[in-house]
Amino acid sequence: MPLPRIIAITSGKGGVGKTTVSVNLSATLVNYFKKKVTIIDANVTTPHLALHFGIYKYDATLNDVLRGRADLSDASILHPSGIQIIPASLNLTDLVGVDIATLGDVLKDMLPTEDFIIIDSAPGFGKEAVSALKACEEAIIVSTPTVPAIMDAIKAKKVLQELGVENLGLVLNKVMGRKYELKRSEITELIDLPVLAEIPFDEKFQEALAAKMPLILYDRKSPTTLQFLELASILTGEKYEMPRLSIWARIRKLFWKFS
Ligand SMILES: Nc1ncnc2c1ncn2[C@@H]1O[C@H](COP(=O)(O)OP(=O)(O)OP(=O)(O)O)[C@@H](O)[C@H]1O
Ligand SMILES: [Mg+2]
Repeated sequence: MPLPRIIAITSGKGGVGKTTVSVNLSATLVNYFKKKVTIIDANVTTPHLALHFGIYKYDATLNDVLRGRADLSDASILHPSGIQIIPASLNLTDLVGVDIATLGDVLKDMLPTEDFIIIDSAPGFGKEAVSALKACEEAIIVSTPTVPAIMDAIKAKKVLQELGVENLGLVLNKVMGRKYELKRSEITELIDLPVLAEIPFDEKFQEALAAKMPLILYDRKSPTTLQFLELASILTGEKYEMPRLSIWARIRKLFWKFS
């Protein structure tokens, strides 16, 4: 597999957790798997990525790069977590003159030293989201275990097929284990994709956001962290060193393996 691997985190439905998954997957790859990772905020109209890291000020953004006013390296910020972040501008006026369709060309200049480029995409199948997908070789679809989100995930699968982007599988997010949720077996029957991880609904995501750090670093021993370790392990094909987990996390790990 040529480096860097460029992976889009995509969804049909909005708000299902793409940015949250992008942030925590990247932090896991860097901190537990010792990979070099850059995340790019390709959601230029409503960017949130930098906010997860408490980054509000920057010399240059993806908008400047897309307008030909800066290089990727100018816009890249090294966060203390070890992740390189390329934010999109929070300023509405910075959308003028930005053509997201050029993202693929811009990424050709990406440093070959990176192992992974994670693209946090806009939701849906408009120009912004499709441009991000066209710039990638691989994608992960994020969905909640609910009918509307899975219906949109099925559409996302079709779009990836049409674009010739390799679909790595589905990440189920905000899983509460309630009766009214779609079961894992029902979901795989509907969408016919491997489920790469089941991220629990976890209020600590809000705490981590307020603390401006990825949850997997904020709460290393939680069941949620374990799911990101499993996800990163599937992506890399590498084993991970287990953080000392709570009993509950260990029980969940067993359950996840055999479900
Ligand atoms: N597993 C989870 N448990 C609890 N809250 C979560 C979880 N995942 C995400 N959230 C919360 O849900 C909200 C939406 O998440 P996020 O911004 O990651 O979604 P998104 O798919 O990137 O949205 P958009 O489509 O607007 O880009 C955020 O407030 C986030 O903190
Ligand atoms: Mg988002």
